[in-house]
Amino acid sequence: MIGKKVPHVTFRTRIRDEAVGGPNPFRWEDKTSDDYFKGKRVVLFSLPGAFTPTCSTYQLPDFEKLYPEFQAEGVDEIYCISVNDAFVMNAWGKSQGVANIKLIPDGSGEFTRKMGMLVAKDNLGFGMRSWRYGAIINDGVVEAWFEEEGFSDNCDTDPYGVSAPQNILENLRGLKKAA
Ligand code: BEZ
Repeated sequence: MIGKKVPHVTFRTRIRDEAVGGPNPFRWEDKTSDDYFKGKRVVLFSLPGAFTPTCSTYQLPDFEKLYPEFQAEGVDEIYCISVNDAFVMNAWGKSQGVANIKLIPDGSGEFTRKMGMLVAKDNLGFGMRSWRYGAIINDGVVEAWFEEEGFSDNCDTDPYGVSAPQNILENLRGLKKAA
């Protein structure tokens, strides 16, 4: 995976715009892979679903807390992506009080599929979702890869550790030392 260029995809996001007026002042805004990745060194982490327990209790809040430490290691942005639509991702971010992490809605799963990370989770009634992974992506190219073990459809377990922020941060610090 290291050296792979991220796929070019258009994401359908919803952004708040007071000019829209009314009780729900949001509008669609398309964002491309270039908008997120071009000219930046970022951490991307991908998970099976917004609002799910491990993602909501550990992975997202821990990335949120550790954001300054990632910045100190030369990371410009941290993105969380999931095969969920923009309404769900926005509601999840709001419920988690997320300020530092940007949530990317991959509602159709196109980015995840083109990354080779789309798996069936029909055993949970989820349909197609992302295998859990993380990556350091530099100007759109994968620099380091953190994929949970056991990539498979309808996996009975939800491995979590390799893509935890603590592990990715430790690796980033190691990359700096090695450079
Ligand atoms: C979790 O994050 O705990 C979780 C993810 C996918 C399915 C079930 C649970």
